[in-house]
Amino acid sequence: MCGIVGYLGEKQALPILLDGLRRLEYRGYDSAGIAVLSNGSLAVKKNVGKVADLIAALDQTQYRGTIGIGHTRWATHGVPNETNAHPHFDCHLKIALIHNGVIENFHTLKTMLESKGHHFRSETDTEVLAHLIEEIYNSTKDFELSIRMALKQVVGTYGLVVTTIDYPDTLFVARKGSPLVIGYGDGEMYIASDPSAMVAHTRKVVYLQDGEVATITRTSCTIKTLDDEYKHREIEELTFSVEQIEKCGYPHFMLKEIHEQPQTIQDSMRGRVLLEEGSVKLGGLDGVLKQLLDAQRIVLVACGTSWHAALVGEYMLEQYVRIPVEVDYASEFRYRDPVLQKGDVVIVISQSGETADTLAALREAKARGVLVLGICNVVGSTIARESDGGVYIHAGPEIGVASTKAFTSQLTVLALLTVLLGRKRGILSKQEASNILHELSLIPEKVQSILSDTKQIEKIAQEFYNARNFLYLGRGYNFPVALEGALKLKEISYIHAEGYPAAEMKHGPIALIDNDMPVVFIAPRDATYEKVLSNIQEVRARNGRVIAIVNDSEEEIQRLAEYTIHVPHSIDMLSPLLTVIPLQLLAYYIAVLRGCNVDQPRNLAKSVTVE
Ligand code: G6P
Repeated sequence: MCGIVGYLGEKQALPILLDGLRRLEYRGYDSAGIAVLSNGSLAVKKNVGKVADLIAALDQTQYRGTIGIGHTRWATHGVPNETNAHPHFDCHLKIALIHNGVIENFHTLKTMLESKGHHFRSETDTEVLAHLIEEIYNSTKDFELSIRMALKQVVGTYGLVVTTIDYPDTLFVARKGSPLVIGYGDGEMYIASDPSAMVAHTRKVVYLQDGEVATITRTSCTIKTLDDEYKHREIEELTFSVEQIEKCGYPHFMLKEIHEQPQTIQDSMRGRVLLEEGSVKLGGLDGVLKQLLDAQRIVLVACGTSWHAALVGEYMLEQYVRIPVEVDYASEFRYRDPVLQKGDVVIVISQSGETADTLAALREAKARGVLVLGICNVVGSTIARESDGGVYIHAGPEIGVASTKAFTSQLTVLALLTVLLGRKRGILSKQEASNILHELSLIPEKVQSILSDTKQIEKIAQEFYNARNFLYLGRGYNFPVALEGALKLKEISYIHAEGYPAAEMKHGPIALIDNDMPVVFIAPRDATYEKVLSNIQEVRARNGRVIAIVNDSEEEIQRLAEYTIHVPHSIDMLSPLLTVIPLQLLAYYIAVLRGCNVDQPRNLAKSVTVE
C-alpha cells in the first residue's frame, strides 16, 4: 500500500527520493508525489500513475535541495488524482506532509478547521493533519509540540513525515499503526515505511514504535511519546542485502521469488531440524511451549495467501498433533465477537507482519487474555513484536505482490511446528517424526526439479491464456492449494478463477463446466487420489478441459486429462509444497502472455495496512 520516503543530508534529495519510491513500487499504489525544500520554499510535484510517470513529468532542475519527502498513494479517501496525491499542505504552503494509514475522525476535524477558516484542496483524510498542525502551530509557535498536540486529537492510524519551511534542517515523523523506519547515514538520515527503500544507502536503522514522534536532523534523531516523554531506541542492523530486493536478471520479482523457493524452503528449516532425535527446535516458542502443548484449541488467523497456508496448517496439526484447529479470516475474526477461552491459543500468520486486519485480530485476542503467537516473514514487524512468541519463516524480502515463496516457507514452518508439537505430545513416534523430517529435507531438491523444466507449463499457458474462467479443484491437503492456485491466477492475470474442494464441485460449480472451461485438478497420489479420479471423470463427462497436477507416471490420469504436469511424490502433508509450484508458474506465464503487470497488479497492495 502507500509508501513513504524522506531524506535529509548533504546530497540532492530528489534522486534519493525517486529511487526510494521506485523501490517501494511493489507495495501497490496509484499515484505518487514529492516535495523538496528548495531555496526556502516547497517545490512540489504530484502525478497519477507510476513513479516513472512522475519522473517523466519532472524538470529535475526545479527541485534542488537536500531535504525532501516522497509518497506513493493507494487511494482510500478520494479518487487517484493529482490533488489527492500526497504531499498535502496547510493553507499557506508552509507545511507539507505525507501519510500512510487512515484518519478516522477526519470529517469532524475538517468541519472544525473549516469553521476556523482553513481552506481544503483535496478529498483526502490526510489533508486534515496539515491544517490541524498549522492551526495549533499558529498559537504554540513550537512545531514539534504542535505535531504531538495534533496527533492527540486524531483517531486512526498513521505513519507520518512532516516538513516545514520554518525548520529547514529538520524532518518530523510519527507513527501509530503504520510502520516507519529511520535510517542512519554519515551526516544524513533516511526515512521510509519499509527498509527496502533505504538499504542501498544504510543498514543502520531504528524502527519507530506506535505513539512515538521523532525529530530528525542530519546528525540526530530525538524520539518522544505524544506525552513528551523521551524514548531511547537501539540502532538495529538490516539483515537483508540489496541483491535480495533486486531482480538479479529475472524479468519479474515474482519469477525470481518462485525460483528462490528451493533456497527459501531450506532457509525456513535451517538450524531447526533435529533429525537424529526426530524432533524440531523453534527458539521463538521456548518460553510458551508448555502453554502451547496444553492448548485445548488452536485458532489460526490470517488473510489472503497466508490464510491458505493456515488451512494447510489445520490439516497438519489436526492429523499429527490432535488438537482441534480452527482457521479464521482476520477481518472476520476481529468483528464477530469470537469465543476465546482459557486454553485457546491464537496463531496469526502474516508475511509482512503489518496487515491491518491480522494485527487487529492479534490485539483482539491479546485483549481477551489468550496466548498469541505469530508466524511472520518480516523481521521486527509489528505482528512479530506484539506476539507473545513465534517463528520467523526466513523467506527473505518478498517483493512480488502475489505471494509465492512466503507461502511455501509458511507451510515449511507449519510442518516443523506440527512435528514439534506432535512429538512432545507423544502422538508422533520418533520414527514417524524422523520420516516427516526426512521427507521435508528432500523438498528443496524436488522443488528444484519442477523448476528445472517449465516447458509443459508454458505450453499450457499458451493454450489457455485467453480463457475467461478457470476452476481449481483439490481435496484434503490440496484443497487449500486449489484456492491458492485460483488466487494466484486472478491476482495477476485478472482471469476469473475459483478454487473448490473437488467433491463440492457437484454442489454448484459443475453447472459451469462446458468445453470452454479449463479445470485444474491437483491430484497427487495421496489419501484422496481415488476420489479425485472420480471427480476428473465427472468433469470429462461434461467435456471440461482437464489440466492435472500429478505425480510421475500416472497413466490413468494421463488418459483422462488433456494436459498433465508432473511433480515428484512426497508424503501427503508436504505435497502442497510441490503441487503449488506449477500453479504459481501457470499463473505467472498466463499473466505475462496477457501483458499484465505481474509484480504490481492493478488495485492490489503487497501489505494491506488499512482494514
Ligand atoms: C495482500 C497481499 C497478499 C497477502 C495478503 C496477506 O492481499 O497481496 O499476497 O497474502 O495481503 O498479507 P500478509 O502480509 O499478512 O501475509
